[in-house]
Amino acid sequence: MRANEYIAAITLWPVLLAIVLSYPHMVQGASADDHHDTLTEKLHTGNYSRRGADECLGCHDETFPFPTDKIFHNAHGQSIPHSPFAQNSDPKEFPTGLQCEACHGPAGDHSKQVLVDEAARRPMINFGKRANAGADLQNSMCLNCHNSGGRIHWPGSSHETSDLACADCHQLHSAEDPVQQPESQAQTCNECHSNVAADALKHSAHPIEEGQLACDDCHQVHGAGDDKLLLEISLNDTCYTCHAEKRGPFLYEHAPVAEDCSICHLPHGSNQPSLLTRRPPQLCQGCHSAAGHRNLPQLADQIPPGGASEYLLAQGCTNCHAEVHGSNHPSGDKLKR
Ligand code: HEC
Ligand code: HEC
Ligand code: HEC
Ligand code: HEC
Ligand code: HEC
Ligand code: HEC
Ligand code: HEC
Ligand code: HEC
Ligand code: HEC
Ligand code: HEC
Repeated sequence: MRANEYIAAITLWPVLLAIVLSYPHMVQGASADDHHDTLTEKLHTGNYSRRGADECLGCHDETFPFPTDKIFHNAHGQSIPHSPFAQNSDPKEFPTGLQCEACHGPAGDHSKQVLVDEAARRPMINFGKRANAGADLQNSMCLNCHNSGGRIHWPGSSHETSDLACADCHQLHSAEDPVQQPESQAQTCNECHSNVAADALKHSAHPIEEGQLACDDCHQVHGAGDDKLLLEISLNDTCYTCHAEKRGPFLYEHAPVAEDCSICHLPHGSNQPSLLTRRPPQLCQGCHSAAGHRNLPQLADQIPPGGASEYLLAQGCTNCHAEVHGSNHPSGDKLKR
């Protein structure tokens, strides 16, 4: 090798290295938002097919790996008012009646029979695992028809601002949508919220695992007034929907209960009994000093002669103060009855 060839080879290295390093990025990128601009442009051109679903099903038949016909087993595939398959729809009711293209956008030349190069088939908007457009474009297809009801609070909700797509939770080409079934819902949510899944397995938990309670019994997943996406206006109001007896009114209220259940309870699961954040007496002593009450002794040399203070038997403040949520008894001022 001559010296100048050698130098040329060396100087080529960084270039080659850069290409090698960027290769995986180029390949990965192709599956993400790469088609976003093409798809947006295609949507604006509005070149819809004349034959509708018949055209699509000509190719997307049962030989395709993805079974598209399952859409006819749920509401979207029925010719009911406002649906993609509604018949004789008013053109003003866009995109009602556009069938497959109501969600996937206009076919344009995607459905050309003969292509020089199969890889050059113009893309359709896709959702779910193989989504090829940004969440905002995907969601706009759905919000064309679903911008009322639960979706009123969607803009600005923690799921919207985290760029979730509707199809991250919903499956549309299936007879049943798992996220809408109480017994299977948590599986979809826990793909992202694994900490909640772990909590649900703890010693004390709401019976989510057993399917008695679903996430949407407490959460409004499309968006709510607050950032925890709670179903009701406040945390306590959410709890009262099932634990109405804790609302009162009580003759003798316990201040922290009326204020916020989560001062003492965790919502999903706890290794303490009754979903408690801490056990009594520590839980109670976080606020109550022992002044005026014989609940102080904790160490051996503080125990009065004859044994431990009865106030601390079995570590239980609630042995005596059983009505910790409030009392309606005329002499229940110490929450004892
Ligand atoms: C109401 C909206 C909607 C309608 C109508 C609809 N789809 Fe879909 N389609 C989706 C969603 C969402 C997905 C992603 C998978 C899922 O969640 O079920 C999808 C996925 C697909 C895929 C899968 C591509 C892949 O990832 O392999 C094909 C192909 C497809 N649809 C074709 C069709 C055809 C053909 C029709 C008409 C018969 C149709 N779709 C009607 C929403 C729709
Ligand atoms: C001539 C055959 C043909 C017709 C007609 C056809 N498709 Fe496709 N479609 C394909 C092929 C092939 C692919 C796979 C492309 C790939 O994997 O790169 C595909 C992929 C898709 C995808 C996945 C996203 C993408 O672009 O890769 C969707 C969604 C889709 N088609 C929807 C439709 C809809 C809706 C219609 C009717 C308006 C339709 N197709 C008509 C052949 C066809
Ligand atoms: C052309 C209008 C239209 C489009 C576009 C559309 N939907 Fe729907 N959708 C409907 C109608 C109509 C119903 C049935 C309403 C009812 O039962 O009250 C429905 C029902 C639903 C339901 C609940 C009922 C069920 O059985 O599952 C979900 C969830 C849903 N759509 C999600 C979506 C998502 C996600 C998209 C976008 C990928 C989408 N829709 C696109 C019209 C549409
Ligand atoms: C975090 C998961 C999640 C996301 C993201 C999500 N949904 Fe839902 N969706 C649910 C659950 C759970 C239910 C059933 C409980 C309910 O109605 O709130 C549901 C119910 C629905 C229903 C039927 C009941 C109703 O409220 O009319 C429609 C329609 C719907 N979703 C549309 C959408 C649309 C459109 C989007 C995107 C803008 C979306 N969803 C995003 C989880 C989700
Ligand atoms: C694709 C992932 C994904 C799925 C599926 C999902 N979430 Fe989320 N969720 C997020 C992200 C990201 C946030 C933003 C806050 C964060 O990072 O925790 C969030 C926020 C939330 C919050 C508010 C928490 C906070 O601190 O702001 C609640 C409540 C919630 N999700 C409940 C649910 C429920 C219920 C379901 C199922 C119906 C669900 N999520 C499905 C990703 C997901
Ligand atoms: C019994 C009511 C209830 C049920 C059922 C419930 N949650 Fe919650 N969740 C809450 C409350 C209340 C908060 C707010 C806690 C706080 O602000 O201290 C919360 C907070 C959250 C948060 C944010 C804080 C965190 O722990 O990450 C996420 C995410 C969440 N819930 C997801 C879920 C999912 C997923 C499910 C179903 C598997 C579910 N929740 C079921 C009541 C509930
Ligand atoms: C949709 C109904 C529902 C809502 C809303 C609800 N709970 Fe529950 N809760 C239950 C059910 C069901 C049980 C189990 C009762 C049983 O096992 O007998 C339970 C049990 C409990 C327990 C006892 C757990 C144990 O291990 O003994 C506590 C504490 C509790 N809930 C607190 C709350 C708090 C705090 C909230 C609000 C953040 C709340 N719950 C919201 C239905 C609900
Ligand atoms: C000051 C702490 C504290 C607050 C605040 C509190 N709890 Fe409790 N809760 C407890 C303790 C302690 C227990 C266990 C009682 C026992 O062991 O006898 C309990 C038990 C429970 C139980 C299961 C036993 C039963 O009484 O049914 C439910 C349900 C419950 N709480 C709901 C709530 C709700 C709903 C709120 C908010 C309105 C709330 N708690 C606020 C301390 C509290
Ligand atoms: C977040 C702080 C907080 C926690 C935790 C708490 N309390 Fe209280 N408790 C209060 C407040 C505030 C009052 C009202 C005091 C007043 O009116 O002088 C009160 C009142 C009481 C009273 C009535 C006192 C009186 O003078 O009438 C009893 C008894 C009581 N609490 C017992 C408990 C027990 C038992 C626990 C544990 C299960 C507990 N508290 C946990 C804040 C708390
Ligand atoms: C053996 C029963 C018993 C146990 C156990 C007990 N208490 Fe009491 N508590 C009482 C009685 C009786 C009173 C009212 C008479 C008094 O003031 O001594 C009272 C009063 C109180 C008061 C009102 C303040 C005051 O001085 O009047 C608070 C607060 C209180 N207890 C908290 C607790 C806490 C926290 C625990 C657990 C560490 C606890 N108690 C354990 C019986 C008990």
